[in-house]
Amino acid sequence: MSENISISPSGEKFSLPKPEDYKVEYENLEKRVKQERAMNREIVVVMGVGFVGAVMAAIVADTVDKKGQPSKFVIGMQRPSKRSFWKIPLLNRGISPVKAEDPEVDPMIARCVNMKKTLVATYTYEVLKLADIVVVDVQCDYLKEDLGNVRNGHADMEALEASLAVIAEQIRADALVLIETTVAPGTTEQVAYPIMKKIFKKRGIESDPLLAHSYERVMPGRNYVASIRDFWRVCSGINEEAKERVVKFLNEVLNTDKFPLTVMDRPIESETAKIIENSYRATILAFLDEWSLYAERNGVDLVKVIKAIKVRPTHSNIIFPGPGIGGYCLPKDGGLGVWAYKHILGFEDDIFRMTPMAIDINDTRGLHVGQLTRDALRNMGHPIASADVLILGAAYREDVGDTRYSGSEIVIRKLAEMGAEIRVHDPYVDHWWEFEQQDTYPGTGQSKARFFRNQEKLKEIHVEPDLKKALHDAEAVIFAVPHEAYLNLDPDELIDTIGHPAAIIDCFGILSDDKIRRYFQLGCEVKGLGRGHIQRLKEETRKG
Ligand SMILES: NC(=O)c1ccc[n+]([C@@H]2O[C@H](COP(=O)([O-])OP(=O)(O)OC[C@H]3O[C@@H](n4cnc5c(N)ncnc54)[C@H](O)[C@@H]3O)[C@@H](O)[C@H]2O)c1
Repeated sequence: MSENISISPSGEKFSLPKPEDYKVEYENLEKRVKQERAMNREIVVVMGVGFVGAVMAAIVADTVDKKGQPSKFVIGMQRPSKRSFWKIPLLNRGISPVKAEDPEVDPMIARCVNMKKTLVATYTYEVLKLADIVVVDVQCDYLKEDLGNVRNGHADMEALEASLAVIAEQIRADALVLIETTVAPGTTEQVAYPIMKKIFKKRGIESDPLLAHSYERVMPGRNYVASIRDFWRVCSGINEEAKERVVKFLNEVLNTDKFPLTVMDRPIESETAKIIENSYRATILAFLDEWSLYAERNGVDLVKVIKAIKVRPTHSNIIFPGPGIGGYCLPKDGGLGVWAYKHILGFEDDIFRMTPMAIDINDTRGLHVGQLTRDALRNMGHPIASADVLILGAAYREDVGDTRYSGSEIVIRKLAEMGAEIRVHDPYVDHWWEFEQQDTYPGTGQSKARFFRNQEKLKEIHVEPDLKKALHDAEAVIFAVPHEAYLNLDPDELIDTIGHPAAIIDCFGILSDDKIRRYFQLGCEVKGLGRGHIQRLKEETRKG
């Protein structure tokens, strides 16, 4: 790739800005902001227009006052890296830089950019000078050094720390800085504050930076916009003024009449709330992994057990875990908490047992799918080595196109290690960067490829959009994600399309007993995570 080109996912090429472009870009924005202020609009800069920032920016830009007039002018600010610069020109055309299944996302961004004219995007940090409010939506990753040992890792604060320094260098002293990024607890007060205070002092600013924290609960998917705008928020400020300002801002831009804010006393409390919220979810999912194995070995169908338990209102959030717990948040957030306890908050003892264990279990659950596939193929007389295995679903959950930390990635890496040939279908995913660009994605040297052998060929994975084509002549089919398109597949049609009996692996409890029976009647072998009753159905079918 050329040094100064950024390529969008659809392949469009954009030249990165040249040094002389910055001045003109800022002057234009300055003029524009003057006009917007004259219309009484507050200027909000959203830093980082990724999954969270792009949609949050649009929601803020869509805000109207009591008279129905737009009350905010939003500038999405994105660093002009080769990997991300393309998001800026796309946004400026009114095109969403994130692919969304929510039908509200695309029209909202188009409306704010092209009709209301309340949303633009830029690459120049200087724009921060013009902000009344800065919303920080850059990433803060947790980098793991091992597979299945979250303790051996660290928070990657680089992008966040760099952003905070730039913000402090540029903003007016009275601008509110709202950190929405999920951070290691203690970050707002013990990392952000000192970075900004020091720079403020150098600039001769005596007052404290007005720092606030409010975490996102966004779920990119069918209810992407509503999960930000029409949902409860927790917030906090570093002092009374910051607290009042963040409460006012969130009350203006979110639907807090229906979904009231929870205001905490200190940022460490709202930061901790986010980490516990996601660790809790990761833990109740991980907890079922051992019962899933138990079920497989004792003729128990975990799917039916969970259904029976769920009836009890106190246990209604029990969830069947798939082949891994992905998404950007659940695999990392507990790690941020455990790491912060030592490296930000300064404790040396080790009080955490459940949180890291849950993440480790979730991160490795997919490996077992490799074994189930191997065994099903073996029962049909085929070795796993060089078998054509089709994975249905690349995303981390149903009906979204987000592949970050999806369980399917581990399933595939394990199968490739055992020599299988991999095919993939997913109706929502065009490119699976975790494989296609595994040398540099999610970062150089960070791919999970490094935990397995025989991974080089996976760079050639291409996500087949045509299900029939993907199925043709496959020896094993793995239902890895419960996308709607897979729920009603008819066994006869599926096997007819494949052209011969195949090994069928159910990772999400999506096959009914009738379908499992039918697959056996058609000469297939069936296995499933947590589905120990399959063996019984097989024997019944054989006898029948
Ligand atoms: N994606 C989710 O479902 C979700 C849900 C809840 C919370 N969060 C949290 O929200 C935060 C953001 O997540 P995301 O999914 O939007 O990440 P993302 O990687 O999609 O977006 C981050 C963006 O910030 C940009 N960026 C990085 N450094 C920058 C800098 N110095 N200046 C300007 N831009 C910069 C990146 O280029 C990228 O476009 C994370 O802390 C995440 O944990 C995400």
